[in-house]
Amino acid sequence: MSGHLRLGVNIDHVATIRNARGGEHPCPIRAAHVAAQAGADGITAHLREDRRHMTDADIARLVAEIELPLNLEMAATEEMLEIALKARPHAACIVPERRAERTTEGGLDAAGQHNLLRPFVGRLLEAGIRVSLFIVPETRQIEAAARLGAPVVELHTGPYAHSGAGADERARLATAAREAAALGLEVHAGHGLSFGNVGPVAAIPELAELNIGHFLVGEAVFTGLGPAIREMRRRMDAARAGERA
Ligand code: PXP
Repeated sequence: MSGHLRLGVNIDHVATIRNARGGEHPCPIRAAHVAAQAGADGITAHLREDRRHMTDADIARLVAEIELPLNLEMAATEEMLEIALKARPHAACIVPERRAERTTEGGLDAAGQHNLLRPFVGRLLEAGIRVSLFIVPETRQIEAAARLGAPVVELHTGPYAHSGAGADERARLATAAREAAALGLEVHAGHGLSFGNVGPVAAIPELAELNIGHFLVGEAVFTGLGPAIREMRRRMDAARAGERA
């Protein structure tokens, strides 16, 4: 299962910069076009309940104007479900936004919230939207995601990134990826990935997709978004090929 590792570029923080002045620049839709040209395999955007970065209009435009698949990150709320069912993105990744919805490490509490999550997963799948659950790399959460019928899990790489790409956290991710794949789940990963820490994660053979945002938008300040994405792509490919980046 160690074929092409997809790169989903999260453009939320382009909108964060735009919103700092309340105007239209920099435009996240333009960023999505640049990402497509630079070799991104998908665009990821989180419509938060407080609309702190992406707006409803951004999501509608991404669906209408971008050819790459859109992965909509959303909380499990009726409001977001309605928006997703209307927008029909390629995929929806359910993420926690409130304390009560998360595990101590910040992933969705798929195990503790089965009854709440079940109808969301079911209704999105019925609409033909691929569902992923953003969880910490723990057996309990992986098994819960499988029980919920989600075809995809996205492993939270925040603890790995915060540990300075520590070997123990990397091993947790590798074990979790293996367990999830053995249950028939497609495995993604993301949060806090950068040029410095992406290699050991990209080398995990069961991973099919990485979602990366904040670092790329930050790096774009120095090199431009296209070159930052191309360099991330190069590092992911090198790690997959067993080379040192
Ligand atoms: N994956 C998920 C589920 C996320 O919520 C985010 C954004 O926090 C990311 C990936 C991208 O994380 P980052 O912006 O740190 O690269």
